[in-house]
Amino acid sequence: MNLEVVILAAGKGTRMQSELPKVMHRLAGRPLLEHVLDTTASLQPKAVHIVVGYGANALRDHFADYQIDGRPVNWVVQEQQLGTGHAVLQALPAVDDESCVLVLYGDGPLIRSETLKRIVLLAREEVSLLTAEVPDPSGLGRILRNQQGDLCGVVEDRDASAEQGNICEINTGVLAAPAMKLKAWLPQVRAANNQKEYYLPDIIALATSEGDRIITAHPEFLWEIEGINDRIQLSQMERAYQARLARELMGGGVSLADPNRLDIRGDLNCGRDIFIDVNVVFEGVVNVADGVSIGANCIIKDSDIGVGCEIKSHSSLEGARLSANCTVGPYARLRPGTVLAGGVKIGNFVETKKASIGEGSKVSHLAYMGDSEIGAGVNVGAGTITCNYDGANKYPTIIGDGAFIGSNSTLVAPVEIEKNGFVGAGSTITKTVPTGELAVARSPQRHISNWQKPIKKQ
Ligand code: UD1
Ligand code: CA
Repeated sequence: MNLEVVILAAGKGTRMQSELPKVMHRLAGRPLLEHVLDTTASLQPKAVHIVVGYGANALRDHFADYQIDGRPVNWVVQEQQLGTGHAVLQALPAVDDESCVLVLYGDGPLIRSETLKRIVLLAREEVSLLTAEVPDPSGLGRILRNQQGDLCGVVEDRDASAEQGNICEINTGVLAAPAMKLKAWLPQVRAANNQKEYYLPDIIALATSEGDRIITAHPEFLWEIEGINDRIQLSQMERAYQARLARELMGGGVSLADPNRLDIRGDLNCGRDIFIDVNVVFEGVVNVADGVSIGANCIIKDSDIGVGCEIKSHSSLEGARLSANCTVGPYARLRPGTVLAGGVKIGNFVETKKASIGEGSKVSHLAYMGDSEIGAGVNVGAGTITCNYDGANKYPTIIGDGAFIGSNSTLVAPVEIEKNGFVGAGSTITKTVPTGELAVARSPQRHISNWQKPIKKQ
C-alpha cells in the first residue's frame, strides 16, 4: 500500500500574535512545518499534501524548492478553516484510492518517524489513531472506550460532559487510515458541535458504527505530541528540544560547560573529547572533530573544525574549513571560503574571506585577508589588509611560503608576495615582491626641528 501524508497547516495561530503563519515560526532554526516535512520524508511517502489557508503564499514561497524523494509537495488551499475534517477532505481528491493516508499537524514538530511508522503499519485495513495518557488533558479531545476497552469515539473538550472531561487519554491528532475509508466517511461528518466545525475525529464514531475496529498506539515519549499555540510554548519547546540535543552530545563524548546555554540550529556532528563553553550557537551543518575546544559566545555556521582545534571566545565562523590543530580567536571572524591548513593561527580581530592559509601560518592580530592564497609558514603582521576590491571587481592576493608581511601593510590586489618575500611595516604594496627580497613602500621619516605645537583659538 502506498503512503500519502496530509499535513494540516491552515490555521492562523491567532495566539502567536504574528503576521507569519504559525507553522513558519522556528524551532531550533527551522520552521515548524519543516520539522514535520523532514520527519515525513523519512517515511518515503508517495505524495505529501499540505493543507494551507492563512499565509498560503508565504508558505508556498518558502518551501518552493522543498522536495521529498525528488518530488515537490502538493499544496491544497482550504479557503475557510471549517475544521480538521473539512481540511482533510480538501486534500482527498488528490489522494489515490489505494493509498494509506497519514494525517499530521504542521504545528506538531516533534513527532518521531518511529512512531509514525508504527501507526502506518497498523492501518492496513482499519483506522489507527495515536492516543496518549496525559496528566492534564484540558483543551484536548478525549478518547471514549466501550466496556471491552475498544475505542468508540472522540469527544472534543468543549463538547465533553463533566465525566468525559475526567478522561486522561487524549487524541493526539495523528491518525492513519485507508484513503477509501476516509473518502467514504468524511463527507458524512456533520458540524453539529460547540464550534460548528467538521471534526476529523468524528470518523471514529462512524467507523465503529460500521463495525470497524480502531487500533490505537501510544507515542514512546509524551514530548512527541506537543503542539505550539503561543510563543511561550514555543520557547519552552525550544529549551526542551535543546536540552535533549545537549544530552545526546554529552552521551557521545562532548563536555558542555552548561547544557542550558547551548543552541543547535541545524545538524551538529561531534567527535569525542570536545569541550564547548557557554553560549555557543551552531547553525546549519557543522562538523567538529575529536579534541576540539570552543570558547564562550562563539557562533559557528556551516563549518568543519579539524582535530584538536581551539576556537577561542567570541569568534564567528561561517563556511570555514579548518584542518587539525588550528587556533582561532578570540574575536575572530572567518567568513565563507576560509580554508585553514594544519596548525594555522588566526588571532583577535582578524577577518578572513575566501582565503586559504597554509600550514603553520599566522595572522595574529587585526587583519583582513580576503580573496587570498597564503602559503605555509607565513607571518602576517598586525593591521595588514588585502585591498581586494576596487569598487567594482575583486582581485586575488597571493603570498608564498615563508613570506613575512610587516605590520600595518596594505596589499593592493591583484598582487603577489613571492616565497620568502619580506614586506617592511607600513608598506603599501602594489607590485610583485620577488622571492627573498625586502620591499619597503612607505615615505621615509622626516624631522622638522623647532616644531611649534598648534594653540587653541580663543
Ligand atoms: C485537535 C483535535 C483534538 C486533539 C488535538 C490535539 C479535532 C476536531 N480536534 O484539536 O481531538 O486532541 O487536536 O492537538 O480535530 N486545521 C486546519 N484547518 C482547519 C482546522 C484546523 O488546517 O479548518 C489545522 C490547524 O492549523 C492545526 C491542526 O489542524 O495545525 C489542529 O487544529 P486545531 O484547531 O488546533 O485543533 P485542536 O482544537 O487543537
Ligand atoms: Ca491545537
